[in-house]
Amino acid sequence: MEAESRSLAVLNCGELLTLAGPARPRVRDELKELSIIKDGAMLVRDGVIERVGTTEEVRSELGPGNKILDGAGRVVLPGFVDAHTHPVFAGTRVDEFELRTTGTTYEQIAERGGGIRSTVRKTRAASEQELFDGAQRYSSWFLRTGTTTIEAKSGYGLSVEDELKVLRVIRRLGEVHSPAYVPTFLGAHEIPDEYRGKASEYVNLVINEMLPAVAKLGLAEYCDVFCEPKVFDVATSRRILQAARALGLKLRLHADQLSRSGAAELAAEMNAVTADHLERIDNSGIEVLAAARVQPVLLPASVYTLGTGGFAPARKMIDAGLAVVLATDFNPGSSPTPSLPFVLSIACTHMRMTPAETLTATTVNAAYSLGRGNCIGSLEPGKRADFVIHDCRDYREISYFSGIESAEAVFVGGEVVFRRSQTSA
Ligand code: NIG
Ligand code: FE
Repeated sequence: MEAESRSLAVLNCGELLTLAGPARPRVRDELKELSIIKDGAMLVRDGVIERVGTTEEVRSELGPGNKILDGAGRVVLPGFVDAHTHPVFAGTRVDEFELRTTGTTYEQIAERGGGIRSTVRKTRAASEQELFDGAQRYSSWFLRTGTTTIEAKSGYGLSVEDELKVLRVIRRLGEVHSPAYVPTFLGAHEIPDEYRGKASEYVNLVINEMLPAVAKLGLAEYCDVFCEPKVFDVATSRRILQAARALGLKLRLHADQLSRSGAAELAAEMNAVTADHLERIDNSGIEVLAAARVQPVLLPASVYTLGTGGFAPARKMIDAGLAVVLATDFNPGSSPTPSLPFVLSIACTHMRMTPAETLTATTVNAAYSLGRGNCIGSLEPGKRADFVIHDCRDYREISYFSGIESAEAVFVGGEVVFRRSQTSA
C-alpha cells in the first residue's frame, strides 16, 4: 500500500502548461513559449515528476495501483514562485492606507516616522510566536492563490535580536508549512528610530554584527538592500553588499524604485542575481542589466497600491533580452497583496506583457532568480511536483478574470496542500 500511494497520475488536463524548455531563464520570445500539452497528463513518483505527456500516452504506461487524479479538462501549471516578499511583520498599516486616499504620499508618511518604521515598532514588540502565527495566516493566502515557493525578506526588526527573530520565523515557516520559503536578510531596509541622524552607525551595525550573525547561523541565502538616496545610497549599499558577499550570501537589490540613483548599475557591478522594482530605470540602466545578466524583478502591485503610476518598462526589458520576473512585493505598506494572479492582471493591463509572458515570469524565470531553476518552476521529469489545477479551460483566463481565485487544488511535492471546498457548482 505504501509504495502504491506514492505514485500519482494526473490525467485529463485540458491544458498542461509544462514550461519545458532550455535549462535557464527565458528571454525575448521564449517568454511566450509555455510548452502546452492539450489533454495533458503527468506521472508523479515520490513527490517528483517522472513522466509528462498526453493523457493517452501516460495512461497506456500506467501500472496497477496508481492513484489517479482527474484534471477534468482544467488548466494545470507549475506552482507560482513569488521571488520578492516581506511576509513577516506585526500589525497592519491600514491607517496609512486611508491617509494616502487624502493625498498624503508614501514618502511623506515615511518622513514623519510612519511607513516601514511604524511596522518595525510593532514587529519588535511582538513575540516570535505571534509573528509566526501572523505569517502562517499569510502563508495560507499565498497557497490559495496558487503560490508554492516564496522568497521572504526580513527587514522589520532592524536590531540584531529582532532581525534574527524574524529570520527564525521564516526558517520555521519553511520547516512546518507549505509553501517553501527562501530566506533573504534585509537589515538595510530603513534607518530605525534610535539611529536617526547617525545612519553610518546603523550601517556599521548591519555590517559588523547583523551580517556575521545571520551568516554564522545560516539564516539567509540572500542579502538585499533598499538602495535609495534618502535611505541607503549607492556607496553605502555597495559596502553592505560587499560585506554580505564576503560572507557567502548571494545578492538582490531594491533598485531605482523611487528615484533613478544608479542602483541598477550597482546591481550589475556587484553581480547581484536580481535588481527589483526598477520603476525609474532608463534605457542605459536596462543595457547595463542586460550585459551583466541581472534578472529584473518587477513589482507592479506596489505601483498600483501607491497609486502613483509609472510602471516599470517591461516591454523594453524583454526587447533588451532581460529574463523578466514578476513578484508581489507582499508587505504591509506598499503592496498588501499575496496574489500573483492579481499581479498578472496588472502586468497585462498596465505593462503590456502578454498572458503567456506573465506566466513564464512567475514560474520558471522566478525559480531561476532564486537559484532553484533545476528543481521547480516547470513541469518536467526530475523536478518537484509542485503544480496547481486552476478552474479554467484557457490559461489566459488566469490573468483575464481578476479579483477571483482560480486555484482549485494546489500540490507541493505531489501532496495536496490546498483544495477549494466545493460549496457551489
Ligand atoms: O519593496 N521599498 C522598500 N520596501 C518595501 C516596502 C515596505 C513597506 O512599506 O513596509 C517595498 O516596496
Ligand atoms: Fe520590497
